[in-house]
Amino acid sequence: MERQAPLMAAEQAVWFADRAVHRTVEIRENVRLARDTYRVRFDCPDIARRIVPGQFVMTRASGCNDPLLGRPLALYDTVLDAAGNPVGLDVVYLVIGKLTSRLAQSPPGTRLDVWGPLGNGFAPRPAQHLVMVAGGIGQTPFVALAREALGLRNYGDPARNAPAVDQVTLCYGTRSREYLAGVADFESLGVRVLTSTDDGTAGRHGLVTELLADVLSGSPPASRVVCCGPEPMMHAVAEMVCARGIPCEVSLESPMACGIGICFSCVARVRDDAGRWDYRRTCVEGPVFDAARIEF
Ligand SMILES: Cc1cc2nc3c(=O)[nH]c(=O)nc-3n(C[C@H](O)[C@H](O)[C@H](O)COP(=O)(O)OP(=O)(O)OC[C@H]3O[C@@H](n4cnc5c(N)ncnc54)[C@H](O)[C@@H]3O)c2cc1C
Ligand code: FES
Repeated sequence: MERQAPLMAAEQAVWFADRAVHRTVEIRENVRLARDTYRVRFDCPDIARRIVPGQFVMTRASGCNDPLLGRPLALYDTVLDAAGNPVGLDVVYLVIGKLTSRLAQSPPGTRLDVWGPLGNGFAPRPAQHLVMVAGGIGQTPFVALAREALGLRNYGDPARNAPAVDQVTLCYGTRSREYLAGVADFESLGVRVLTSTDDGTAGRHGLVTELLADVLSGSPPASRVVCCGPEPMMHAVAEMVCARGIPCEVSLESPMACGIGICFSCVARVRDDAGRWDYRRTCVEGPVFDAARIEF
């Protein structure tokens, strides 16, 4: 199949940290979704109004120096007030280290420092069948993206009008059933959810790429694929999808120190039009990149 034109080059991205604000917020809810996985909700109208799917906020515990640096967490979804205005954020996190362990112990009322919105996010693109591929905690950027793509909410300020898609499919793989988080959130939007687990306790016994292979050879054909998860999985997805000439974006989960483009701790190797690679900062030129341009 003929290759389609590449997606926008990372170096052409116009999103930088200029529009980010720093706020101290209070946790309103911190609820368990799955094993070691929680959804935290806080009010932050300044960020909620502007943030778009695929962007993230840097987060740290207020008044606490351990960890000193913030951690990036993707927008799970915005929270609306009774009048439909975005006033808060939900983020979903997997407990793996210092901040996320501390967050899991944080009751409502705990103060957090957050700054954002950060990163480029997913550009609105026309696509009849949007396929989202998530591994581990990589499903978090996709609830808002699916909601927007299905025409159920506008994001950003000014609110952007994303072209509506006909169908959204989520291929979602985890280690086992107990780590599947937020499946009902996707299903309530009308997303077709296909799951896989490494141990066979839910969905297909195997890798999420096996689910994707079925979707790519099925009907309706995939017209846009977005992917987030462990790097080997994103690499495999990129190869499968790009070989078919289908536009594919990956949202990288590079560890970050500043989140605003200063420290270069988050760089990824990204190719330009001539095929030469250079380092690009995941926090400002990403985290969403054209998969065909990533030097995995
Ligand atoms: C743009 C972006 C969005 C993200 N969104 C989410 C999200 O919505 N939910 C979520 O749970 N996580 C998300 N992450 C990953 C999250 O930032 C890390 O899991 C988090 O920094 C861990 O912080 P910690 O203090 O708990 O762990 P730490 O104490 O910093 O680290 C514990 C261990 O995990 C390793 N580690 C740290 N960061 C990563 C990483 N990114 N990938 C793999 N290993 C890592 C460290 O090397 C260390 O071994 C996102 C990352 C990026 C870049
Ligand atoms: S995290 Fe500092 S430049 Fe990206």
